Amino acid sequence: MSLSETGPHGDYRGYRQPHRGASDELLVRTGRATPCGEYLRRYWQPVALTSEVEDVPRLVRVLGEDLVLFRDRSGRYGLVHRQCPHRRASMEFGVCEERGIRCCYHGWLFDVDGSVLEIPGQPATMDAALVREKSRLGAYPVREYRGLIFAYLGPIEQVPDFPIYDTLELDGQELVPYRADYACNWLQVLDAILDPIHTSFLHSRVSRAQFSEGMGELGELLFHERGQSFLGTNVRRVGDNVWFRVNELVLPNYTQAGAAFSADGTRPIYYGRTAFSRWVVPLDDENTTAFAWAIFGERADPPEYNTPEGPELIEQGELMDRPYSERQRFPGDAEAVEGMGRIADQKMEHLVPSDSGIIQYRKRLRKLCRQLEQGIEPTHVTAAGIAPVPTCGGDTVLCLPRIDDDERTRLRELGERFMQIQFDAEDLAEDERVRHVVRALRALETEVAA
Ligand code: FES
Ligand SMILES: [Fe+2]
Repeated sequence: MSLSETGPHGDYRGYRQPHRGASDELLVRTGRATPCGEYLRRYWQPVALTSEVEDVPRLVRVLGEDLVLFRDRSGRYGLVHRQCPHRRASMEFGVCEERGIRCCYHGWLFDVDGSVLEIPGQPATMDAALVREKSRLGAYPVREYRGLIFAYLGPIEQVPDFPIYDTLELDGQELVPYRADYACNWLQVLDAILDPIHTSFLHSRVSRAQFSEGMGELGELLFHERGQSFLGTNVRRVGDNVWFRVNELVLPNYTQAGAAFSADGTRPIYYGRTAFSRWVVPLDDENTTAFAWAIFGERADPPEYNTPEGPELIEQGELMDRPYSERQRFPGDAEAVEGMGRIADQKMEHLVPSDSGIIQYRKRLRKLCRQLEQGIEPTHVTAAGIAPVPTCGGDTVLCLPRIDDDERTRLRELGERFMQIQFDAEDLAEDERVRHVVRALRALETEVAA
């Protein structure tokens, strides 16, 4: 009997269909010497919150590597291989000194770049220079930025400029660093940013109104690929208003979206910006951490949402640590993406038009990984020479009353107009860009009202 035929007992297919399939191996593997692992190692990646670094070293796992992060007593950060090059003791038990870190076992002292500063207790006959040169500790460059510690784990001759994004430098806003840990592969956590329709279901209709009430409204979805950015825009009708919400992925793993609570389409917003900016970092292939900032201010979520729970609620709609019974009744992103399994079977997915953003960005990632295998280095957002780097994630709500024609087509047209206004201004410095965009948005309202 073919699958299309229905027998006397109905068209039940549980026996015929497999439960599990294959993953997208090229993208889910991020360890050393894997194509995607090498690709991700070409970018600065956050590895910890600054607040997590104390006077003792901290064990961290990043891209499958076990590393030790420390701050020496002169305030410099180091990120080194876990095992000491002498006889393999773990540097997590080392001592942070004025200059560098001292291994607990035989007292070798290493600088933040892994060079050997002291090998105590040896005879004068030992060729100290030779031993020091041969027994360096593996180390990576580190820098701190606004409460997150970043490291570069790639080849040192390829270290890129550190990217500063426009939304992180705006006046009058507070950035609250946080981390959210997911027990699954990075790709399934990252996918959600280019899946704007899930907000209407997971975060509204299916669970409860985890963000603003207006998120449950279905809109028209637009997807754009622009340089290093992928944009998923949801255009919703709310009475006389049209609400444009832009989710953003900047390759390879930086994401932004609009306000979580204060945008609902009912009040005008002229060029609101991201309320959460995050990097989705593989710790290994089965564990991922979003290192992020919750952003509070006039152009994101207002300061009253800056509570101890605020960052987790912005991250995934619910607190991360809660009873199973509550997780079942009110699932958030963690339930959705961890429930796929530690590494999802992408080869068994059935993708539809609302998944277009995911299809596009995964395709590009595959291409970049393959190119790097052939020796073609990826382009960085800083290469354009515009600082800070312009981004698009955020909310805008305009008064654009319904007119009597095909509303879905009209919302798509308005969405394209809205995105083009941002694209036209992307080479301008922040102040000038805001002026240009707001002026164009008001002109669009006037044009429609006429
Ligand atoms: S094992 Fe580290 S100094 Fe000996
Ligand atoms: Fe979500």
